[in-house]
Amino acid sequence: MLAIMGAMDEEIELLLADLREREDVTLPGVTVHRGVLDGVPVLLTRGGIGKVNAAMTTTYLLVHGASRVVFTGVAGGVHPELRVGDIVVSTDLVQHDVDVTPLGYEVGTVPGELPAWPADPELRAAAVRAAQAVEGVQVVEGRVASGDQFIASVPGVTRLRETFGAACAEMEGAAVAQVCAKAGVPFVVIRSVSDTADTGADVDYREFMPRVARHAKQVVRGMLADLTAAP
Ligand code: ADE
Repeated sequence: MLAIMGAMDEEIELLLADLREREDVTLPGVTVHRGVLDGVPVLLTRGGIGKVNAAMTTTYLLVHGASRVVFTGVAGGVHPELRVGDIVVSTDLVQHDVDVTPLGYEVGTVPGELPAWPADPELRAAAVRAAQAVEGVQVVEGRVASGDQFIASVPGVTRLRETFGAACAEMEGAAVAQVCAKAGVPFVVIRSVSDTADTGADVDYREFMPRVARHAKQVVRGMLADLTAAP
């Protein structure tokens, strides 16, 4: 079953409104909504903010039958060409706040894990096609950098660009990726740019987040149509 996850209400509420045959499964800390979206059986949930919430919620989704996971939400643009409203589709994901360098690991590497978790090629391709159908936005495929930090400074953006080659910064994707990779479940992360993660990112985020979070509805629906289309 396809699972669709966002961090905040704004990121899933429009999809939830259209979920048919809805059944709410209440779990410790999270409610997972089962139902049918555009004729496709799905799990839909708001996981909360940050990597811990994301990892916990992803685990619940997998235990409840998710065989593919699509995460959708907003991000701070790090790639210099990204503007508010543009969409990033993950190529791979890193945890920029992990630092075990004193023990000889590269910054961002969790000992015993991949240095970056690659997103699924088929889900990526479907996400790119669906994102390209959103009018007036640029679609960039790139690395998503996740950490338990809201990035709002020029040095912060520069570090993510130079150290990790990141396209955008957010707070959940790599945790979803790590859990899915362990389970061998394909995933992709799709992010609309709400700010450019530099000075004033907090102001832009408050202004644009609710608006750009709405791209999620269009991209997810496009993906559903794409993934279920006859070959
Ligand atoms: N989500 C949206 N904007 C962000 C930023 N600047 N840093 C981290 N997460 C974000």
